[in-house]
Amino acid sequence: MARRTKIYEGKAKVLYDGPEPGTIVQYFKDEATAFNAEKKDVIDGKGVLNNRLSEFFMNGLQAIGIPTHFIKRLNMREQLVRKCEIIPLEVIVRNYAAGSISKRLGIEEGTQMPRPIVEYCYKDDSLGDPLVTEEHIAAFGWASQQDMEDILSLALRVNDFMSGLMLGVGIRLVDFKIEIGRVYEGDYQRLVIADEISPDSCRLWDIETGRKLDKDVFRRDLGNLTDAYSEVARRLGVLPKTAQMPKPKIVE
Ligand code: TMP
Ligand code: ASP
Repeated sequence: MARRTKIYEGKAKVLYDGPEPGTIVQYFKDEATAFNAEKKDVIDGKGVLNNRLSEFFMNGLQAIGIPTHFIKRLNMREQLVRKCEIIPLEVIVRNYAAGSISKRLGIEEGTQMPRPIVEYCYKDDSLGDPLVTEEHIAAFGWASQQDMEDILSLALRVNDFMSGLMLGVGIRLVDFKIEIGRVYEGDYQRLVIADEISPDSCRLWDIETGRKLDKDVFRRDLGNLTDAYSEVARRLGVLPKTAQMPKPKIVE
């Protein structure tokens, strides 16, 4: 079999040319990074969980008419997606304060936002993905006015879908990040949700206990990351309820 062509290797995924023109294979790695890769580790099983969870979220979005790049999952670590041109923005939606907005504006973590707040960061690791305004986005031509209207509407629809889904399993969607791609169909372009949606790119807190079930477990050394992601997957029915790592038994 011919070796696949690697198109790009990021911090958490590798992209290969797909089997058909216009397709890409996304391979989910076990690497976890935080603070622009200052902190790194390999977390056994993270890639498998994110592949499954991202498939679940993308399928759910498509089912309610929100277009995504997702085509199908291929195996434990890979999914087939539509090739698209990624808009160089991280689109963040915040329902409760946490992370950088808490630091930036001095808002206590967990404070509910008066309404969902959408922020844009320019995707450039060498600059640490700086926060930008719509003025920068328009002036530098990263997205048109029409794109920005569509992106805002997509981001808020994803927020409603994800918040409701999580609420149903006792989890608060604190915030999340999505990336948007352009696909061309003849003379038309369409925007789709691209990249991944997983506990790497969301903040998820248990409603009862406040337990963190997302990448902050790794960022802040709060325990075992795959335990947290598995809990999300189990509650959503993505992993069978009984799929638990065997715990060591005390032999008396
Ligand atoms: P922040 O509070 O660090 O700005 O993060 C906001 C949300 O975006 C949080 O759910 C984590 C996610 N995020 C990413 O997915 N990738 C990133 O590079 C960063 C900084 C945040
Ligand atoms: N993904 C980014 C990094 O690797 C930041 C983060 O998620 O905290 O460093």
